[in-house]
Amino acid sequence: MLLPVTSLVDALNGRLPRLQRWCTPTLLPAAASVLDPYLSEASCSVDELGDPLARTGAFARLEYLAAAGQGADGCLLGVHGSTGGNWVVARALALQAPGTTVLVARESHQSVIHACQAFGLTVAFLPGGWHEPTHTLLACTPREVHAELAAGPPPAALWLTSPGYDGAIADVAALAEAARGIDEELVVVVDEAWGAHLEALGLTGALRAGADVTVRSMHKLGGALAQTAVVAWRGTRLDPGLLEMAWRQYTTTSPSYGLLANLEAALAGLASPQGATQLARAVGLAVELRERLAALGVDCLTQEDLPADRAQAVDPLKVTAAVPGGLAVARGLARHGVIAEKAGLASVTFVAAYHLDDDAPALAADALEAVMAEGFRDLNGGRAGNLLADLPRRACEPGPARVRAACDLAAAVGAVAGETVEAYPPGIPILVDGFEITAGAVDHLRALAAGGAQVIATDATLRTVQVRM
Ligand SMILES: Cc1ncc(COP(=O)(O)O)c(C=O)c1O
Repeated sequence: MLLPVTSLVDALNGRLPRLQRWCTPTLLPAAASVLDPYLSEASCSVDELGDPLARTGAFARLEYLAAAGQGADGCLLGVHGSTGGNWVVARALALQAPGTTVLVARESHQSVIHACQAFGLTVAFLPGGWHEPTHTLLACTPREVHAELAAGPPPAALWLTSPGYDGAIADVAALAEAARGIDEELVVVVDEAWGAHLEALGLTGALRAGADVTVRSMHKLGGALAQTAVVAWRGTRLDPGLLEMAWRQYTTTSPSYGLLANLEAALAGLASPQGATQLARAVGLAVELRERLAALGVDCLTQEDLPADRAQAVDPLKVTAAVPGGLAVARGLARHGVIAEKAGLASVTFVAAYHLDDDAPALAADALEAVMAEGFRDLNGGRAGNLLADLPRRACEPGPARVRAACDLAAAVGAVAGETVEAYPPGIPILVDGFEITAGAVDHLRALAAGGAQVIATDATLRTVQVRM
């Protein structure tokens, strides 16, 4: 085994702060800093602060603040991102309704699917929409939710994702209403990992729109350090006692006090007048970037492009540019010191982060112009189809044997996947463990790999894939 050359410490202390980072974590200048996190790092041994596991003292205060901001009845704090939050929610659902089915959005993050499956819940996918120019997966419509639930049998929960990675914000109120029209007690969970700033923008968060539980990453658009997250609930459709139990079973007993303090500072910062000014400035940076890209002939995802029943708004902090060969373009931008949040076969997504400088839009547009002039090599090979068509919505019946084995990717078409495979970012599965592998999915994976996407799989070269025998 060879020692890779890059030292993380050297990299963080060196070039990284000088990069134009249109990506998470988005650090809010209005969030007060912990002056010396090395000096003040502590654990529950210092009991004058209260206890993070017992949720007392300063931690109870922080929970109160985080819940109040979303109109929640209660919340749980996390230092393992929305990934950890999704695992807590899935565990609670499994405690409440063991072995039942959860209807999840096609655009779900892999953590939703892994967590449900790990706790013995059956995953089935909702229908959804597709925006071809940017390859954006869109939410299901209220009518589709109604039809899906009416077709039965009743699921344990509906698990939506909003805002989506590319910025489309679903009409959670209409979706929850459609669900409750069929089953008043149905639990509606929203993976709101990208929505920590919604109230600060004057938009309605999912809880106030009718969801029962939300999971938010504070480090995405909440202005906090990486890993910080909040699971919040309203009402009792998902028993809060079971959510708390699931959290106790999962959470680290030694969370970083520095991270939790930063979460508190980010919540206070976003709600402050200074934070509002900084948020408005970030929105302005996104507007300017869109204008500059338009001047280069590059279209960006807007609400007008999307069906109203699949998206009621596009996040003003997200700029998803329709760029063929997006993966190659993003690599070109990085060579010019401009880091985009993510890229796909047909787009590049920029996050208007609070920490960006005033000249960031000009620098990003100049870099894109230079990349286009240099003539980047679009390595995308093969077909890049509609992801909705590439994954069956229901899992295969479990076979007699559960053994997993490596299989040549081409020969795996028609087999049952033995692992979940995605490109990261965005982490939306293309193959799902237990679901049939389609020819379209294999083509999609090949195109992503050829384009240089980071594929997360047992065999990252994709020569083989795990199948169930
Ligand atoms: C929709 C969605 N949910 C959950 C996650 C996981 O978030 P975290 O990185 O905070 O674990 C992501 C990450 O990108 C995401 O996009």
